[in-house]
Amino acid sequence: MKILAIETSCDDTAVAILQVNNKKFSILSHIVSSQQIHANYGGVFPMMAKREHQINLPLVLKQALQESKLLIPNTQYPIPNKKLKTIKKILEKEHMLFESVKEFLEQYQKPDVDYIAVTNGPGLEPCLWVGVNVARALSYFWDIPAIPVNHIEGHILVNFLNHKSYIINPKETFPAIALVVSGGHTQLILVKGIGKYKIIGETRDDAAGECFDKAARILGLGYPGGPVISQIASKAVRGQTSHKLPRPMMNSKDYDFSFSGLKTAVLYTAKGKTLTKEYIQEMCVEIQQAIIDVLIKKTINAAKDYKAKTIILGGGVSANAQLRRQFNDKLEASSLKLELLVPAKELSTDNALMIAVAGYFNKNKKTSWKKLKANANLRIR
Ligand code: KG4
Ligand code: ZN
Repeated sequence: MKILAIETSCDDTAVAILQVNNKKFSILSHIVSSQQIHANYGGVFPMMAKREHQINLPLVLKQALQESKLLIPNTQYPIPNKKLKTIKKILEKEHMLFESVKEFLEQYQKPDVDYIAVTNGPGLEPCLWVGVNVARALSYFWDIPAIPVNHIEGHILVNFLNHKSYIINPKETFPAIALVVSGGHTQLILVKGIGKYKIIGETRDDAAGECFDKAARILGLGYPGGPVISQIASKAVRGQTSHKLPRPMMNSKDYDFSFSGLKTAVLYTAKGKTLTKEYIQEMCVEIQQAIIDVLIKKTINAAKDYKAKTIILGGGVSANAQLRRQFNDKLEASSLKLELLVPAKELSTDNALMIAVAGYFNKNKKTSWKKLKANANLRIR
């Protein structure tokens, strides 16, 4: 079985094709085109990101099919008028796409693909619709069922790409506690099994990645903030810092987070100061450590309280090398018998392979293109 997956929920345009035979996954292609334009503005503007997705998606789609050896030139065009009218209607809000999708469908044959999985939420609404409407157009024209995928579930399930726990025995893995930390989300999720989720805590204001991004902007470091802060922090000798930032809600009894106070503390501390190289370096160490301390403490508390067998990490912030290392060290030093699942670094940040894997586990939710809709506020359950 082959799944073609599309992800456009934020500022990455991604397409992947995954083959699944006897529960074994093989990656046929996995393309991510990260929009550079947002670096100039220190954040993502939804309408600008939508425009970029419209330009990038047809190219990324073609590249993914080509890499998978599924791009076969067509001989049967033009497309009948009636079909063209439906495609035009599907893409009426993505007018930049109609011509390129039409051209693509005319030039290439229906590929040997069984499902089209697409992120339908949560995310930036205009961006989500680009992926969803392209998926609808392909699903309609090629007559291939569509699978709507929750982006957060993608960040969790990508950990099962070729992981022994799923292949051997799900009973050894669940219940699990998943920490999904990205630019838009910071959630602790109780995973009772694949498809059985309960959000037990989340941020009350900014997401952890957003805190990295905003702190980086205050320090004049560009966007996205997480990678640059972690890179600068890694140069500090023995991780030294003379700054002390708060660890908001670290000791609260619930599983919620709050990161906006941390960003404000960075702002006040930096006010009126000359931002020397040394100052920035020490500040990066402290920002990163403050975020890591809170994330690890709350996640391990939740894992203990729910008697979890596994901790699953996902989302852009889980690409952070210190977070991974310190999680590992903490668990090794503790008496807890917990397995830590962390995706490969390039699968922590947004990609379509995670949507393909989650699509595979959600095959039973396959639907007609007519019923597929984006939902910016979709919640995992
Ligand atoms: O999951 P993701 O690619 O997109 C969203 O769904 O938001 O996450 C992007 C976020 C950004 O806030 C970025 O600063 C953060 O992940 N990020 C990192 C690192 N790489 C990306 N944060 C900390 N350390 C990193 N190495
Ligand atoms: Zn994400």
